[in-house]
Amino acid sequence: MAKIIDGKQISMQVKMQVKEEVQQLTEQQISVCLAVVIVGNDPASRVYVNNKKKACDLVGIQSMEYALPEETTQQELLTLIEKLNQDKQINGILVQLPLPKGIDEKKVIETISPQKDVDAFHAVNVGKIMIGNYDFLPCTPAGCMDLIRSTGVEIQGKHCVVIGRSNIVGKPMSMLMLHENATVTICHSKTVNLKEVCQTADILIAAVGKANLVTADMVKQGAVVIDVGMNRLPNGKLCGDVDFQTVQEVAGYITPVPGGVGPMTIATLMKNTVTAAKVQNQ
Ligand code: GUN
Repeated sequence: MAKIIDGKQISMQVKMQVKEEVQQLTEQQISVCLAVVIVGNDPASRVYVNNKKKACDLVGIQSMEYALPEETTQQELLTLIEKLNQDKQINGILVQLPLPKGIDEKKVIETISPQKDVDAFHAVNVGKIMIGNYDFLPCTPAGCMDLIRSTGVEIQGKHCVVIGRSNIVGKPMSMLMLHENATVTICHSKTVNLKEVCQTADILIAAVGKANLVTADMVKQGAVVIDVGMNRLPNGKLCGDVDFQTVQEVAGYITPVPGGVGPMTIATLMKNTVTAAKVQNQ
């Protein structure tokens, strides 16, 4: 039976460390402020943004919300971002994705100043991650790394299989595992022998957005299983990409949904915002 990796508890430890850092900065008269931009009425985005603001309150980071209506034009959003780029009070800028149709996410991301890009989505930051010389780690992959480290399982030399190749999770996750000297395989929708590849994973990361994609027959005995999925079932319940009930019988460690990766994403965002404030005040 797998040990459950408690993302809520681990994220709280991270946030408490961040809180201490914020206090130290305050003593040096440096305040930390995150601008949170949300466009439209996506209910899931509203929940995420509220959780991010709550985390800011907890650690002592000031948060400024910019809630724009669904019909906001791309130019209006870009103008706001440019204003926030210039604003010395603002250390980090987070534009909650997805954006309404008609707004080009790529254009929005590349308009955010790389130094304020606390999501690490900008090409400059992505490139820095690729070469292993970065200020910001992408929030969800960095949170997953903390969860894996919490198990005490050594990463070096292990076979790590990442299912999903998104810019937000799959690709950067693979890179972070590679930096830790894992042997990394990336699987995706065109992978032919997904089950067989997954069966060889010592560390398995599911980041696809497909409920219960990973079943027990795909998991090696004792593997570390990290579930990045966050899927809403027709009955309203949240579930991950991993069939938790059956996989927990086989895995060595497993993250629950909710209460696994999600809280870690937010904790890393808090870390990145403090890093931004430090870099900007150097
Ligand atoms: N939408 C889903 N995940 C994220 C994230 O990590 N950051 C932002 N900005 N939007 C998201």
